[in-house]
Amino acid sequence: MFFKVLSDTDHVENFDCGNKDLNIFLIKNALNYQKSFVSKTYLLHNQNTIYGFYSISATLIEQQQTDIRWPKHPLPAVLLGRLAVDLKYQKQHLGSLLFAHACKNTVEVANTIGCVALITEAKNQNAFNFYSKFGMKPFKNKQDTLYLKIKNIIKVLNP
Ligand SMILES: CC(C)(COP(=O)(O)OP(=O)(O)OC[C@H]1O[C@@H](n2cnc3c(N)ncnc32)[C@H](O)[C@@H]1OP(=O)(O)O)[C@@H](O)C(=O)NCCC(=O)NCCS
Repeated sequence: MFFKVLSDTDHVENFDCGNKDLNIFLIKNALNYQKSFVSKTYLLHNQNTIYGFYSISATLIEQQQTDIRWPKHPLPAVLLGRLAVDLKYQKQHLGSLLFAHACKNTVEVANTIGCVALITEAKNQNAFNFYSKFGMKPFKNKQDTLYLKIKNIIKVLNP
């Protein structure tokens, strides 16, 4: 099982995570987003089997939504826009593997140009519960947006 960046030659057309919007994103939009530098999509795959994917991009967050005290202006972050595992392979810790890979990429961004957190929008209660397992905390005034500070990611990745 390997990670790779999505490319023209990947057969993503049969991917089904049970969420229509996420399926359509991977099958129809992800490559165009990537070619336009809007987001980058990573696949967890083995030859022609696509186990799961996630997409990340750059974003800005409001400092006062978090427990970050300084500086008091919008702060750079990485947005985990989408993450999904094919129905056939759910509950086998592949979602966790995808999340850990997104964390590693976030640390790369932090070390290269600076960013303070990984954030995501939980589209439903299941997603909220899933992300909470990794220590993600809700924004103060926007409970479905969750963040994990870079300092905590680094601590987890380098115990
Ligand atoms: C959410 C999703 C990515 C989880 O993937 P997965 O491979 O099944 O998750 P994992 O096996 O890595 O589970 C990791 C942990 O989260 C928990 N978990 C997984 N799905 C959960 C859910 N729906 N509710 C609560 N906890 C959940 C698991 O029990 C596990 O905890 P444990 O280590 O204590 O056992 C997958 O169910 C999915 O693709 N769903 C549809 C798309 C979606 O909702 N994406 C997220 C929003 S963009």
